[in-house]
Amino acid sequence: MTRRLAFVPLALALLAWPAAQASQAPGADAPRKAWWKEVVVYQIYPRSFQDSDGDGIGDLRGIISRLDYVQSLGVDVVWLNPIYESPNDDNGYDISDYRAIMRQMGTMADFDAMLAGMHQRGIKLVMDLVVNHSSDEHAWFKQSRASRDNPYRDYYHWWPAERGVPAKRWSFFDEEANAWRYDATTNAYYLHYFSRKQPDLNWENPKLRREVYELMKFWFDKGVDGFRMDVIPFISKDTSFPPLPASYGGNYVAYYARGPHLHEYLQEMNREVLSRYDVMTVGEGAGVAIEDALDFVDEDRKELQTFFHFEVADWGRRKGDFMYPDPDNRRLPDLKDVFTRWDRVFEKKGWGTVYLGNHDQSRMLSRYGNDTPPYRVASAKMLLTLLLTMRATPYVYYGDELGMANIRFREISDYRDLQTINYYTRLKREGGDVAGFLAAQAEVSRDNGRTPMQWTAATNAGFSTATPWIRVNPDHESVNVEAEERAPDSVLSYFRRLLRLRKSEPTLVYGAYQLLDRDNPEVFAYTRSLDGRSLLVALSFSASGGRTAIPAGQAPGKVLINNLATSPVQAAQLELAPYQAVVLELDRK
Ligand code: NOJ
Repeated sequence: MTRRLAFVPLALALLAWPAAQASQAPGADAPRKAWWKEVVVYQIYPRSFQDSDGDGIGDLRGIISRLDYVQSLGVDVVWLNPIYESPNDDNGYDISDYRAIMRQMGTMADFDAMLAGMHQRGIKLVMDLVVNHSSDEHAWFKQSRASRDNPYRDYYHWWPAERGVPAKRWSFFDEEANAWRYDATTNAYYLHYFSRKQPDLNWENPKLRREVYELMKFWFDKGVDGFRMDVIPFISKDTSFPPLPASYGGNYVAYYARGPHLHEYLQEMNREVLSRYDVMTVGEGAGVAIEDALDFVDEDRKELQTFFHFEVADWGRRKGDFMYPDPDNRRLPDLKDVFTRWDRVFEKKGWGTVYLGNHDQSRMLSRYGNDTPPYRVASAKMLLTLLLTMRATPYVYYGDELGMANIRFREISDYRDLQTINYYTRLKREGGDVAGFLAAQAEVSRDNGRTPMQWTAATNAGFSTATPWIRVNPDHESVNVEAEERAPDSVLSYFRRLLRLRKSEPTLVYGAYQLLDRDNPEVFAYTRSLDGRSLLVALSFSASGGRTAIPAGQAPGKVLINNLATSPVQAAQLELAPYQAVVLELDRK
């Protein structure tokens, strides 16, 4: 059997449904109801959201000052990237103390105030759990590397040098792409799937697992509402470290995601921690093949609730090297197929997620839409329509509600991300095509998605009074919250209307998804149906618009939302203008 293997490259006041309606049993054709299936999540990259103390870096007090804005969007949950103590080799994904707040972000008192401020506004908080690896500056690792007989030695993976060079393991961020790093203190190599400063934790050690469960409880007991789990499929390792099995054809990511005791550990984590709290969980499903998806999220297995797959993120990228775009891998029917097959997986069991951008991706608008002036606003609204009309929990990345775009750096000196910098360093050393790489990074670099939130047209976009840690996109002069608040036809105004629509239409949450017109190269159209109610979603992905037929036996009814002023309804078909998006009721003829 051929396996489809996902490569990791490397979302007004709340308009909740009436309680009585939320507790009714859904139709026989619909999934079981749960609050975490009905929420819209808004992801905040804390370093880039709002600086309060004038050091150019976003912080918790900054977030607190923007909570009214977040509430005004109508979102239910905030997912916050790591804010724990960290030397910031990888912007907080290298944690040196799991129970402390990074100094640049504030204090534990600031955290408590932020959480209370969210809860007062009816917003839940999902934190990032990064436990495949820690920082090399964590006290555990300092102990572990000190001597071979240190009690913390087995908190990490060590390979004694007298056994020779360990079998190759590929690293995402290492300057030499090598996941083994020699450490002279004890004449041994340690494992790091990410940077040299991110040693992998040894989950095969029950003591380490106990530490992780205790730190999870620490945050849940503080009132945190869930975890997004960083590269969680990578936690279990075959500690004999054999050469990569030939059956993986060089795909290390897929191998990393299938460790021997992975599901045992996730079940143990569920039993020991998750089952004791009413929280939400979303795993970063790096490397998870679609065939393995239900192993993580089938309710009966008691592991996780949801995870992020990478197939939408891989569309438009070079197969096997996500650091480059691939113009030939950008066919709309292929993208539709990805959404359709992933919807099918969760038809009876489990539940999906949908995202089009995050801190590891370039901006949604620039990748899947069209950020040139004539199409920018329409295509940003169109993509938000896709996000909020899928049967899956939507994750909206900060700034996408404004239509923020890629900054497209030209110089290596503008980049802050170790992934881009370390790849560049290696390429340069090896005499590779550095200019080609920089051109590619202008489109795909993670830093495109990490530029400061655009609040105003003023200097530094109202993000900071100091020079920001990463450059602000010059387009903030027109694309910013202040301007969009004033404009009824802005992306921001549309996003709020769209979100109210999702929250008022159970059909958009639980309704069955049916793809229409699969081969249409310009239009992505589908229906969502629940309890006899049917909605049609039609999205133009093209600068020339597109057309699609109303399904046989149905007539176009009320238009629930439209991103343009013109109606696309023409008798039995829709004539869409460039990047037009429409959601309408279907009536039986
Ligand atoms: C995935 C995170 O989303 C990414 O930002 C990070 O660099 C790696 N995992 C390593 O933690």
